[in-house]
Amino acid sequence: MPIFFETEPATGTKLAVWKIEEDEGFFSSRVPLQRTITHPHKRLQHLAGRWLLQHLFPEFPLDLIRVADTRKPYLHDEAFHFSISHCGDFAGAIASRDHRVGIDVEIVSEKVQRIRHKFVSAGEEQALDAALPGQVLEQATLLWSCKEALFKWHGKGGLEFREHMTATAIQTLPGQAVETRFAFTKERPVDVDIRSKLFPGLCVSWIATPG
Ligand SMILES: CC(C)(COP(=O)(O)OP(=O)(O)OC[C@H]1O[C@@H](n2cnc3c(N)ncnc32)[C@H](O)[C@@H]1OP(=O)(O)O)[C@@H](O)C(=O)NCCC(=O)NCCS
Repeated sequence: MPIFFETEPATGTKLAVWKIEEDEGFFSSRVPLQRTITHPHKRLQHLAGRWLLQHLFPEFPLDLIRVADTRKPYLHDEAFHFSISHCGDFAGAIASRDHRVGIDVEIVSEKVQRIRHKFVSAGEEQALDAALPGQVLEQATLLWSCKEALFKWHGKGGLEFREHMTATAIQTLPGQAVETRFAFTKERPVDVDIRSKLFPGLCVSWIATPG
């Protein structure tokens, strides 16, 4: 059971990251596939994400998951708020009965450098450089991962990453953890904190807010 990372961001809110080492049969015997996914690895990632929800909460009603037009998965009765992410051989999930949540699992790669101009503002460049000096790829990946987690937490789409989410404070914490405060201004402006955990070559970011 290769749980790679597990934490409880708030009471009753659980998060886990799984390193996928199993083949599809392991997951498909335990998890319903609710839509056709032709690419085998994407199908494996999808199944692993769903499976993790039941790992976090054995009573999680996987059969009742619906998918919105925005592609956000949800439960009609909101018995759980949840969010899923996958990247390479990793899958992550966060779920809660009473917190709104978002998660992103991101492999550190050059990809983020190519799209950096689309999501990093000048002020964020400076703040990141001060917090994580000399780690350009990790910095960019961390910020991208935080903004993807925020995107999923918001869940309604229509966000401009540079305009609606601005990192205003970055704090490094023990254990390769980082907390980033964001001004989120899509609707009524709010400050939200995103926690990230850095592993060699991998970044996991999540948000959980009451309500
Ligand atoms: C939705 C999005 C965040 C998914 O990210 P991704 O890198 O493709 O994949 P991840 O593995 O991290 O996440 C995929 C999971 O997110 C969830 N998801 C998909 N759309 C979602 C949405 N609109 N809201 C919340 N969650 C969503 C699903 O659970 C999906 O997994 P599943 O299909 O197996 O259930 C991404 O496709 C996206 O649209 N990002 C915003 C891009 C953007 O607006 N950029 C502008 C500035 S550059």
